[in-house]
Amino acid sequence: MPRPARPRRRVFVTRAIDAAALARLCAAAEVEVWPGELPPPERKLRNALAHADAILSMVTDKIDARLIAEASGLRVISNLAVGVDNIDLDAATRAGIAVGHTPGVLTEATADLAFGLLMATARRIGEGDRHVRAGKWRTWGPMTMLGRDVHSSTLGIVGFGAIGQAMAGRASGFGMRVLYLKHRRGSNDGKIAGARGVNLRRLLEESDYVSIHVPLTATTRHFIGRREFSLMKPGAILINTARGAIVDQAAMLAALKSRRLAGAGLDVTDPEPIAANDPLLRLDNVVITPHIGSASIATRAQMAAIAVGNVQDVFAGRLPRFCANPRVRLRAAQT
Ligand code: GLV
Repeated sequence: MPRPARPRRRVFVTRAIDAAALARLCAAAEVEVWPGELPPPERKLRNALAHADAILSMVTDKIDARLIAEASGLRVISNLAVGVDNIDLDAATRAGIAVGHTPGVLTEATADLAFGLLMATARRIGEGDRHVRAGKWRTWGPMTMLGRDVHSSTLGIVGFGAIGQAMAGRASGFGMRVLYLKHRRGSNDGKIAGARGVNLRRLLEESDYVSIHVPLTATTRHFIGRREFSLMKPGAILINTARGAIVDQAAMLAALKSRRLAGAGLDVTDPEPIAANDPLLRLDNVVITPHIGSASIATRAQMAAIAVGNVQDVFAGRLPRFCANPRVRLRAAQT
């Protein structure tokens, strides 16, 4: 007798992703893709989760304990990102839901953007472009738009994981001295030639540029605040491509206004998107991009392939290859 066909697994994808990856998912499951440019509203997300076996989510989808409690058949949340701070990881783990993410493939693209923001802020590239477009370029001026040197300066890296180390590699290539925040558990000295592990005070006091590369957790929320800005070298520049809430934005605004901080290059803000009337947008010494650290064509395709693979792993009865909660005991599939 032929075996009864297994019901097709249901997957909710919260935004259109790379077509090839999506096609693979569609071949394996019944897939609904949210068609909007904006994230699905909470009502839609909750409804979709209540009926799905898997969700392929974005950093903009807040998946909290309440949503998780109602998602009785959900087995995997596959986030198209390395960061998973939009998901209540503990609640997912308790519920037996695996959380997948996409580390590794976005390391170089994110470091490229971080270094680009450093260059843009130091050498006033955005400001210069606005100057030209406004018809203000009247001559070559010996004192016009003077910026700061990148070569021969010091970069302090907060978060010396894969992206922080990739940033250090770029900085070494530009002739910068590199410091990184040394973790209590040990040193990464030697991982990147010349990079030196120091404590936070020394890093802040000696760095011309401080670049943030830690994940957002309860410990790192507002890790850089009023006290840290007061310790920074006067005229330093802050780069943040990690998460906006790691920096106390009000304290950063005050430091920028007082010129203690000479500039900030931000790919992330708190909240996102930044409000159109946010005073940061009126400062010429701030460069802001719309959370595009990993947004290269090749990187996003690779991230989508991994996110789909993470869903397929769970459908095959194993943990995602890239799992953010590896201690989870996967709940059984609904029949
Ligand atoms: C993007 O912010 C990511 O975490 O991948």
